Amino acid sequence: MTGQPQVTLRAVGPEDLALLGRWRNDTEHGSAFGDFLPMIRRQNSYQERWDVNGLLGEDEGTLLVCLSGEPVGTISWHPVHYGPNRGSQALNLGIAIAPGARGQGVGTLAQRLAYEWLFRHTTVNRVEASTDVENVAEQKALEKAGYTREGVLRGTQFRRGHWHDLVQYSRLRND
Ligand SMILES: CC(C)(COP(=O)(O)OP(=O)(O)OC[C@H]1O[C@@H](n2cnc3c(N)ncnc32)[C@H](O)[C@@H]1OP(=O)(O)O)[C@@H](O)C(=O)NCCC(=O)NCCS
Repeated sequence: MTGQPQVTLRAVGPEDLALLGRWRNDTEHGSAFGDFLPMIRRQNSYQERWDVNGLLGEDEGTLLVCLSGEPVGTISWHPVHYGPNRGSQALNLGIAIAPGARGQGVGTLAQRLAYEWLFRHTTVNRVEASTDVENVAEQKALEKAGYTREGVLRGTQFRRGHWHDLVQYSRLRND
């Protein structure tokens, strides 16, 4: 592909739910550092969540990442609380791009579009993302998308029988 990939984000529609279900059951689709698939599979189905709010709640949501109009992944967010009031709430992003669409700038552009979308549609001041210290692709994508590397969160995530360090990134509304 030449030039910038045509990346867009859009809301999930009922016609997308089967695809999301397939991705959720596909170990190749998620992060090699995820390891939470069995736990994720026990959560409510996409259909149940879609019936409640179309996967766009007040504090959490999921958008489809499209390449030339075709869905190739998802970007989701959930709240992280740094104090008891609403102003102290950040939104933490997670992303998964289908293996066939990786390495062509889609993850970078999607994570840039995500903070633009969240700053436009919510009052949040901080959009953040954390990723395994060994997930080089995600670190590069976040840096190219305009997130600031803040440091390493030591021993944060317990997977495969031991603790893992995460790198923390953020984008602020006024960055
Ligand atoms: C991480 C992910 C979102 C990045 O998206 P992507 O579309 O593949 O990334 P981009 O094409 O925008 O590339 C970003 C940079 O990472 C580099 N990169 C891509 N894959 C790489 C890999 N396996 N190892 C090292 N660098 C890699 C790219 O070359 C690019 O850097 P460059 O411009 O200096 O060449 C995507 O690979 C993915 O969905 N992975 C599985 C799920 C995951 O890890 N999610 C994040 C968990 S927190």
